[in-house]
Amino acid sequence: STCYLDGRYLPLDQARISPMDRGFLFGDGAYEVIPVYSRRPFRLEEHIARLGNTLAALQLPDPHNAGEWAVIIRELVATNDWEDQSVYLQVTRGADTKRNHAFPAQVTPTVFLMSDALLTPPADQLASGVAAVSAADFRWLRCDLKTVALLANCLLRQHAVAQGCAETILFRDGFLTEGSASNIFIVRDGVVLTPPKSHLMLPGITYDVVLELAARHDVAHEVREILEDEVRGADEIWMTSSTKEVLAVTTLDGRPVGDGRPGPLGRRMHALYQDFKN
Ligand code: PDD
Repeated sequence: STCYLDGRYLPLDQARISPMDRGFLFGDGAYEVIPVYSRRPFRLEEHIARLGNTLAALQLPDPHNAGEWAVIIRELVATNDWEDQSVYLQVTRGADTKRNHAFPAQVTPTVFLMSDALLTPPADQLASGVAAVSAADFRWLRCDLKTVALLANCLLRQHAVAQGCAETILFRDGFLTEGSASNIFIVRDGVVLTPPKSHLMLPGITYDVVLELAARHDVAHEVREILEDEVRGADEIWMTSSTKEVLAVTTLDGRPVGDGRPGPLGRRMHALYQDFKN
């Protein structure tokens, strides 16, 4: 496939980045994953705004304005074959001459984008839901930033995969935070619940869409802190992300969620999301 690196479009297998890049040495960079439906980037402004927030927190000047990002993404999408794509975008602080924790005075950010076919959950996963496990959320206290330093998230996702599961649901101090690469919603007594945005979770673009759809379609919902026990006793659990959209979690730590099948509100929200994205 074609990628974008520092102003050029080229085959992905020909892209080269310096080992002195601080993204490689320190995980010093920001990223976004943007879903593209029928060649149209979904919620692009929101993704670019979130990138801006991450870059500002990293004290990394945004190398492009929103219009320039849109052009780069549109070009990249056009050069690749798929109608539906997931665009990966990252900005790292760039390559220094020496390894030094502190920021170099003069450095040019490395801008890299690639795209792949967008593989949303297949029909059998939508029909049966997926299995999840739980773990203590041992990540740092800036989980609101979308940085490429994802080692904790990788360990936590692998914790699920090693047990044949799709996601790890995270709890911190007895409260739900999110998944290793998704936000989490639950349903109790007909009410959709999800935790409020804070430094303990990523402010998901899909999370926002789901809450907007709930409001617009009169689905009872509440944004509030959620106890671990409330998740374990939930009627439904969903994971949401740009690539999973709205996906039912039907077992947690080997025990069925509700009756062990995707519930009515999750199926409704999945359908609303399908309508909305097109
Ligand atoms: N991950 N929480 C975490 C920790 C995530 O990594 C993601 C997305 C989300 C959902 O955010 P959004 O709805 O904006 O995709 C929540 C992306 C897809 C990834 O790292 O591949």
